[in-house]
Amino acid sequence: MSSKDNQKPRPFRAAPGTAPLKGTVSVPGDKSISHRALIFGAMAVGETRVSGLLEGEDVLRTAAAMRAMGAEVERLGEGEWRVWGVGVGGLSEPEDVLDMGNAGTGARLVMGLVASHDFTAVFTGDASLRRRPMGRVMEPLSRIGARFHGRSGGRLPLAMTGTADPLPIEYELPVASAQVKSAILLAGLNAPGITTVIEPEPTRDHTENLLRHFGATVEIETAKTGAKVIRLTGQPEFRPSSITVPADPSSAAFPLVAGLIVPDSAVTVRKVGLNPLRTGLFTTLQEMGADLSFGDRSEQGGEPVADITARYSALRGITVPPERAPSMIDEYPILFAAAACADGDTIVRGARELRVKESDRLALMARGLQACGVDLEEFEDGLVIHGRGRPPQGLSSAGASIATELDHRIAMSFLVLGLAAKDGIVIDDARVMDTSFPGFVPLMQALGARLEPAA
Ligand code: S3P
Repeated sequence: MSSKDNQKPRPFRAAPGTAPLKGTVSVPGDKSISHRALIFGAMAVGETRVSGLLEGEDVLRTAAAMRAMGAEVERLGEGEWRVWGVGVGGLSEPEDVLDMGNAGTGARLVMGLVASHDFTAVFTGDASLRRRPMGRVMEPLSRIGARFHGRSGGRLPLAMTGTADPLPIEYELPVASAQVKSAILLAGLNAPGITTVIEPEPTRDHTENLLRHFGATVEIETAKTGAKVIRLTGQPEFRPSSITVPADPSSAAFPLVAGLIVPDSAVTVRKVGLNPLRTGLFTTLQEMGADLSFGDRSEQGGEPVADITARYSALRGITVPPERAPSMIDEYPILFAAAACADGDTIVRGARELRVKESDRLALMARGLQACGVDLEEFEDGLVIHGRGRPPQGLSSAGASIATELDHRIAMSFLVLGLAAKDGIVIDDARVMDTSFPGFVPLMQALGARLEPAA
């Protein structure tokens, strides 16, 4: 495809087929762990090997940022990467703007790293990333000593200057965010003394796990309030290491939900990462009556993994506990698609964070589902979906399509729903799916899904 073609939106259609979805597939590596593998490799002197790296746009941007700041990052083969790191505090000033593309995780984690280096870096991203709030990392990183010049509302593009004398801080997270936690810990890596992050609600702990894996001292304690207190001892001797990235549960969610909503289907996804801070969707689906089974449990790269099989199920609406939000934060769009096929009300509240993801996911899912004939109510912090016990009508009338606004998970959620919806569903642009799930279309087609470019 020429770069000109690549600039044009690529409308895509999903339609119900005549046969069920059947088969066993492997989805790409975990996005969160892939970003971190490259970042941690860059911080260790010597060679880190990564296998199973997600080669999606988001992670490739982090690879480019690490290269721009002095690390050697090289692709050896499919998912096989080698990073030759510069050591804690050893990054150098990038010569050009760091374009982080669509990746909030890449942008915020790399800003954390830069905060404790004595140089200036300029960050930008695509239209989606330039809409997202960076104040949540600018505030704690300023306390460490970094300085920022950004657009109004703390938005990209922004320039930041790190400090030669970073202060170890103690910081209580005002929002449940693994990205903010990780940005502070990465800044604290090059600060003398102990950096402390207090998290009132537990979020994914891949940063803490990898810090330990590379030889840093991280102590984690549960306070009387139930909050987690994470203490990192700065300026550790960081050892290069090897990392095997498990398959991304957030990507596995798409073929699995397809298996649940397309009649008579049975879909297995191999060796899916099952870190307990990531599995909220599977618990929720089981509460809705989903037939999910977990086989061949083992460990990969220090994370539990299992083969997950989803069989077509009659789903019913439930109330999703708000405290489950951090463990399924990226999975609400596909949950809403499942809820649109369920019988009764699915009630999601306490999920305000969805408004500041790659898109405003509450608004976009609400608008798109309503266009497909789903009855729902939108609240500031959630949606209530009134399911009718069968898939909705869909949207494939001439020229009409679902707006995805550069959000990969909105795009994939509607394509999955389109496999069950009576008329199928057309989305306005499929290109962005490559940020987290390259190969989504052929993988789904291999299961028997009808997915094709729309005129
Ligand atoms: C991520 C944390 C989450 C999640 C994102 C990946 C991470 O974001 O939505 O896709 O790798 O730390 P928040 O920290 O903003 O909740």
